[in-house]
Amino acid sequence: MEHELQSLEIEAKEQLTQLNDNDQLEEFRIRFLGRKGRFSGVMRQLATVSPEDRPRLGQLANGVKKKVEKLFEEKFISLQTVSETGDRDDFGPDLTLPGRCPVTGKLHPVTQVMNEACEIFEQLGFSVAEGPDVETDHYNFEALNIPAHHPARDMHDTFYVSESILLRTHTSPMQARIMEAQQPPLRVIAPGKVYRCDSDITHTAMFHQVEGFLVDRDISFADLKGVLTVFLREMFEQELPLRFRPSFFPFTEPSAEVDIACVMCNGAGCRVCKKTGWLEILGSGMIDPEVFKMVGYDPELYSGFAFGLGIERIAMLKYGIDDIRLFYENDQRFLSQF
Ligand code: FA5
Repeated sequence: MEHELQSLEIEAKEQLTQLNDNDQLEEFRIRFLGRKGRFSGVMRQLATVSPEDRPRLGQLANGVKKKVEKLFEEKFISLQTVSETGDRDDFGPDLTLPGRCPVTGKLHPVTQVMNEACEIFEQLGFSVAEGPDVETDHYNFEALNIPAHHPARDMHDTFYVSESILLRTHTSPMQARIMEAQQPPLRVIAPGKVYRCDSDITHTAMFHQVEGFLVDRDISFADLKGVLTVFLREMFEQELPLRFRPSFFPFTEPSAEVDIACVMCNGAGCRVCKKTGWLEILGSGMIDPEVFKMVGYDPELYSGFAFGLGIERIAMLKYGIDDIRLFYENDQRFLSQF
């Protein structure tokens, strides 16, 4: 048996050096290392040798098998390299082959627009604050002058975690959180994710807002209009028609929604703007004195404005995208264009 193992090793080595392709290698594997191969045959013979010789011969057989397996693996790797690169040791690398170009990742278009929005506000002197996505009913509603059973709660299509915990439906809770902790003058933006049970071509269940608010003495609606007009001019790099439309939010008075002329149809009316020629991109207004009272500010002394921008809506207008849901389908063909 010892002699047979030695000749098996020599034969296997010889044959491996002569193999040139994967088919021949597979044949070799079956013949030598397979279940019915030559090594298995030798192993079976172990049962017939004397019990004194069995451990030594077993060790020898295993050693030879391991050596052949290692040579087999080396041959396998060298054949792979040859088939991938066309290289053969005797030719060296083929310098005419094009290089391998790694695919580079890019920021998501919504992240790009979010970063751009924050940069513009930072240039206008706003500082950036972040708050929790999982919010209390108190900050999301109560502190914003929306008590339980207030009809305005219906507008929010809230995802509740429990009776008093929810996924924030807007970034406005940050107004209350920051005002509670800091004294005016304040000039803050709070970007982040918000959640609503909502889905169609201009609504998703998770979307991004940038909250902004400024509190100081003698702040008027003209300041709000000025800041938003400058922001939109910077964001769209042109003077787009925009309109302030009277609206209602329990935490601002007076309130306005800002619409921008639909870039999809140039205001003529299409499915994106629901035939109105306008697309709503933000809600805004002068901070309600009730909100000031709840955080301990004197409404006789201070006034301020606040706004909440929908980032996906701005990205749609900026890039001419006619369905908001495309942002979240993770289609590389779509995402790699930005
Ligand atoms: C609010 O969320 C208020 N918190 C905004 C605000 C802040 C008003 C401060 C006054 C003062 P509204 O529900 O309108 O308002 O949402 C604001 C913007 O978010 C909308 O103009 C729109 O651009 C965007 N938006 C709203 N719902 C969705 C949705 N489901 N998917 C994508 N964008 C949305």
